[in-house]
Amino acid sequence: MSNTATLEVNGQKHEFPLVTGTENEVAIDVKALRGSTGGVITIDPGYKNTGSCESGITFLDGEKGILRYRGYSIEELAEKADFLEVAYLLIFGELPTKEQHDKFHADIKSKSVVDDDIRKIVDAFPKSAHPMGVLSSLTSALTAFNPSSVNVDSEEDMYNSVVKILGKFPVLVAWTLRKKQGLPLDYGDNSLGYVENVLKMMFKQPNQDYVQNKVIVDALDKLLILHADHEQNCSTSTVRIVGSSHAGLFASLSAGISALWGPLHGGANQAVLEMLEAIREDGGDTKKYMAKAKDKSDPFRLMGFGHRVYKNFDPRAKIIKVAADEVLADLGVEDPILDIAKGLEKEALEDSYFVDRKLYPNVDFYSGIIYRAMGIPTDMFTVMFALGRLPGWIAQWREMRLRKEPIGRPRQLYIGETHRAFKPMNKR
Ligand code: CMC
Repeated sequence: MSNTATLEVNGQKHEFPLVTGTENEVAIDVKALRGSTGGVITIDPGYKNTGSCESGITFLDGEKGILRYRGYSIEELAEKADFLEVAYLLIFGELPTKEQHDKFHADIKSKSVVDDDIRKIVDAFPKSAHPMGVLSSLTSALTAFNPSSVNVDSEEDMYNSVVKILGKFPVLVAWTLRKKQGLPLDYGDNSLGYVENVLKMMFKQPNQDYVQNKVIVDALDKLLILHADHEQNCSTSTVRIVGSSHAGLFASLSAGISALWGPLHGGANQAVLEMLEAIREDGGDTKKYMAKAKDKSDPFRLMGFGHRVYKNFDPRAKIIKVAADEVLADLGVEDPILDIAKGLEKEALEDSYFVDRKLYPNVDFYSGIIYRAMGIPTDMFTVMFALGRLPGWIAQWREMRLRKEPIGRPRQLYIGETHRAFKPMNKR
């Protein structure tokens, strides 16, 4: 195969190198395009054909339904690793040894106290505030409480920022829920595992002990692993692009949280549950909603279906579906919503509209059912996604800074008015 691509513009040929990734994906390197063509650009709304970076963190093959973090398959990681191991792997590139894992956890715990003044910010929010708005604001506020910027050339500085945010973020997540529920805020328990501590911080009632349930701990651990990274999705690209201006890590993460909030991205898990509830309240007629989803004059979409990259089963959805069954069985929860979800999935997988467009259940289709069984309110689901995605965002931010990527600054094709003379107000 030739290792160049030729582009003809106005009768002139221009050659561009082809670059190949370690999984044999091929890209046309158009860095020299504007220079060699005298200013011609590519246009690709939604970046459907545009690689924004080279990255060694996550590989996914949407046609084959493959997802790997640093080369390890998501199936194996979900079964054999814990969330902190996966966080370490994503951020630093290798699975930690026992000593590295223990030190990482100890360092995270040592940085987990959040400045008590942040409580005042939490207090200022109304209980009705959407948890994602609260979480993004609190994450941004962390910058003000930790003003020294990360010296990306110092490994120690970088490591300290990583453990600091991994320590404080779960506290912010828990406070977001506790504020909503009118419960006192606390700082967790350093004798616990990372995920156990998250659960205790979220659910402990002030007047009784919190008893851990292993099935819930394992299911949450798994969910966080499944959400931990997904290469250059909307929120991750946001984190990278904000960070590319050399804005700090916490500010970049806060922007990523806002991007994740949208219903087409992480907000889909909330939207799925709301959709399933609505179908149930409307008598459980899944066929009616299938028809709405296919009707182009109806804005309704089957939430939790379809993916920009997966044109095959989302491998995460397969794992979550099994976990949902296990959690519900263990907790003895009979959730009619699960039956509606399974009914919709079955119908969609047999329907030519969905089959032809390769629309399969995505990661968010079943995750809400597990969160709900755990007692997590629907508008907190995307917060849980953010907790899982945190190591991925950190890893991508770190990679972008270490590779000294230039500031992200796309071009545009201007389609507005051409030059015209100013009209005074009395002439308009
Ligand atoms: N229900 C009905 N039709 C759909 C759906 C859906 N959920 N998703 C895509 N389509 C149709 C769409 O109308 C279009 O049809 P046509 O070719 O006739 O115009 C075709 O399928 C391709 O859709 P698209 O919107 O061009 O695809 P996209 O890659 O731009 O969008 C998506 C991907 C995830 C935004 C979209 O599938 C969607 O809106 N899904 C529902 C929201 C959702 O579940 N989001 C969570 C994604 S997974 C978590 C994450 O990574 O954030």
